[in-house]
Amino acid sequence: MSKLYVFDHPLIQHKLTYIRDKNTGTKEFRELVDEVATLMAYEITRDLPLEEVTIETPVSKAVAKVVSGKKIGLVPILRAGLGMVDGILKIIPAAKVGHVGLYRDPETLKPVEYYLKLPSDITERELIVIDPMLATGGSASAAIQLLKEKGAQNIKLMCLIAAPEGVKRVQEEHDDVDIYVAAVDEKLNDHGYIVPGLGDAGDRLFGTK
Ligand code: PRP
Ligand code: URA
Repeated sequence: MSKLYVFDHPLIQHKLTYIRDKNTGTKEFRELVDEVATLMAYEITRDLPLEEVTIETPVSKAVAKVVSGKKIGLVPILRAGLGMVDGILKIIPAAKVGHVGLYRDPETLKPVEYYLKLPSDITERELIVIDPMLATGGSASAAIQLLKEKGAQNIKLMCLIAAPEGVKRVQEEHDDVDIYVAAVDEKLNDHGYIVPGLGDAGDRLFGTK
């Protein structure tokens, strides 16, 4: 059964407020998304398994812990997902990064695939699909489906803001995928935008319109 985790850490919530604010410009928006991605990555990796290794400190031998188990792969959904990658790599620098290119057709709101490049060993990796916005859920669900068709076994979804409709869709279509968000907003508007949301994440990140 898919679980939904909402990260209510005060720093995440504080930064998210300024990300939402329409008066926040591109430079600051990008920096804040990067910082929140780092904080969310810290939370999402809370349960990573550890194993003991023996090392030598300058003083003595010591048994200490390192992360063990499956290696991590990040899969941003282009293009807005790119805004969260570097923030996550700051604390998981060895992660490999695949890319799924999807855009949402503005009329039908259905995702259109245009690019896919994944690490060769995704079947052995714990994959984190990244996208700031989970609106209708069409893009995230399609990305997860593409990964499963390539053999991915272990997938998490990380978004800044979700609409209830998107959470429901991903949970119905992928009940093995847990969802990690900083906020679940009220609803979608008639154009499929999250209310109150933050507007168009890709445009705000890259300064396009
Ligand atoms: C946005 C967003 C998600 C998608 C969410 O991308 O980054 O990928 O819409 O909507 P959904 O849940 O209804 O599918 P967009 O299609 O605008 O492309 P972009 O990242 O290239 O701007
Ligand atoms: N995509 C966005 O960038 N924002 C929304 O609110 C919905 C989809």
